[in-house]
Amino acid sequence: MIDIHTHILPDMDDGARSIEEAIKMTELLWQQGVRGAVCTPHFDPSQIALDEFINRRTIAMSLMKEAKIPLFPASEIYLHEFLFYYNSLEAVTINNTRYLLLELPFDKKWNNKIYEMIGNLILHFDIIPIIAHIERYPAIRRKHIERLRDIGCLMQLNTSSVLDKKLKRKALNYIGSGLIDVLGSDCHNLSHRPPQIIKPIEEMRKYIGKERCDLLIRQSDRLIEGLD
Ligand SMILES: [Fe+2]
Repeated sequence: MIDIHTHILPDMDDGARSIEEAIKMTELLWQQGVRGAVCTPHFDPSQIALDEFINRRTIAMSLMKEAKIPLFPASEIYLHEFLFYYNSLEAVTINNTRYLLLELPFDKKWNNKIYEMIGNLILHFDIIPIIAHIERYPAIRRKHIERLRDIGCLMQLNTSSVLDKKLKRKALNYIGSGLIDVLGSDCHNLSHRPPQIIKPIEEMRKYIGKERCDLLIRQSDRLIEGLD
């Protein structure tokens, strides 16, 4: 399995705080059967310029030579109008494919502007947004997911949500309904947000069966190659 959502890179955001912690996170992923990780440090275009972000990410990736698994560059991009200042977002897509991990506002309600901005992102940059941890937004309802899918988005679910008391039911329900396209750990550290893969996958297999669960895992693997 490829983990498509991680905050492994050291000193980039609220993820790993040292190279040692980052390396140990890759070891934990490897122990759980993960054979590659997409590095998705937060990129908020209102906080940092794209060039500077890429420079910092390049340095952080160069510090990860002892990582236990191959690492692929990407970012978790916060939806913001400043994104439209750039000519291209290719440098922050997943492994230079058309897939882009997009984080939406944590507001209690979403308005039409969000959907308009996402639609414009797709048209302007020819990208395929993957909505990060779709189950975690306070505003989220099934109708929102359907609307996002209609405009061309894919949905990513955090594996850890399957073990979370508050999110478990919603997470399994979305998976069971076929609303989820890809999985990611969204791991941040070794303490309160460690990589959790094996146990959530076991839970998912109980709920949707091995075959469907394996398909979900394979979809994550195809993503970094830019396949449909
Ligand atoms: Fe994240």
